[in-house]
Amino acid sequence: MKAAILSKFRNVFGRQPEIVARAPGRIEFIGNHTDYNGGTVLGAAIDRGVWVAYASRADGQRRFASDQRGEIISVPAAAIQRQEGPARWTNYPLGILASLPESGLRGPAGFDYLAMSDLPAGAGLSSSAAIELASALAFLGAVGSEPERETVVKLGRHAENHFVGVPCGILDQGVSGFGRENHLVFIDCRGPRFTTVPMPAGAHFWIFNTHTKHALVDGFYAQRHRECAEAARALGVPLLADVSPDALAAAADRLNPVAFKRARHVVEEIARVAAAVTALRQDDLAAVGRLLTASHRSSQTLFENSTPELDLLVDVLTGTAHVHGARLTGGGFGGAVMALTSAEFGDAQARGVAEAYAARFGARPDVLHARTGDGAALVAI
Ligand code: GLA
Repeated sequence: MKAAILSKFRNVFGRQPEIVARAPGRIEFIGNHTDYNGGTVLGAAIDRGVWVAYASRADGQRRFASDQRGEIISVPAAAIQRQEGPARWTNYPLGILASLPESGLRGPAGFDYLAMSDLPAGAGLSSSAAIELASALAFLGAVGSEPERETVVKLGRHAENHFVGVPCGILDQGVSGFGRENHLVFIDCRGPRFTTVPMPAGAHFWIFNTHTKHALVDGFYAQRHRECAEAARALGVPLLADVSPDALAAAADRLNPVAFKRARHVVEEIARVAAAVTALRQDDLAAVGRLLTASHRSSQTLFENSTPELDLLVDVLTGTAHVHGARLTGGGFGGAVMALTSAEFGDAQARGVAEAYAARFGARPDVLHARTGDGAALVAI
């Protein structure tokens, strides 16, 4: 990828880049919709991501290009406006530029900017967080700052919440920023505090991307966010993470049935994250797998953010040899399922899963055997 982005930058802009930055995509391992509820979550950075190459310009023009689209998009240095149409993807780097002064940081004026990705598109692996973090590192590097990881992570989330307009939590940016090869990232979202937990040897990740996406996915995400806030209000706490399972059970009669289901998913999911950390530390992958599958069943029945496509994949995977557990990964309402497997699970098993899916839904899911990788960083050139 490094050689490819250097040569593409020279082809597009006719000059050398001064800075190259890279940020990985992520898997949500367990902790579904817990982040914006003040809970905990485990994720893994993968060895694929978004690369950004950058060189300053003296004329104040901001020129963006990507490997996905041929044209150069020029954005005047004046007010930073949200882009629509083919330029929409530039809202991620533009969101970072807009977030820098809002976070008390300085950003560059004019530049040439190229983004390249080796993340499968639309697979729920959070290419948006990856482009945000790689852009933030490049822009801060351009003005000579060496930010803390946490600063870059928060800039990414700020851009996503306030410029792109998605009310996401800290999971995607936190994992892309703090990822470490052969480790999971544990986030206590309230701090937020970031640590890593070693991945037991012999654990493998497989991603099955359905390429399905509910037309209203963004609206549903925001709706779940609202429902959780309403449930917390009805329970008299600032965030659902403040409710114990016992307190929730005692309040069952006071909550409307939907609020109760959403709250129960979040409260029990936070307990599953803690149980998963314990099981990981004991190298008990079978127990971890059971927690992953239980998380999916809770998404299916309580949080109602699964789909028939995701459910079928989980059903088939959990009936397949060498699979410890499987669940939807990310926001839900379409997207991908991840499976935790032993090394014996291979292409033959993955093909069997894809065929069972195709027999029911026609199309085949994309299959990716993902490896863990390191978090966002500048790349030496
Ligand atoms: C999306 C959001 C995250 C998180 C997950 C669900 O990936 O971007 O912040 O809320 O959904 O756990």
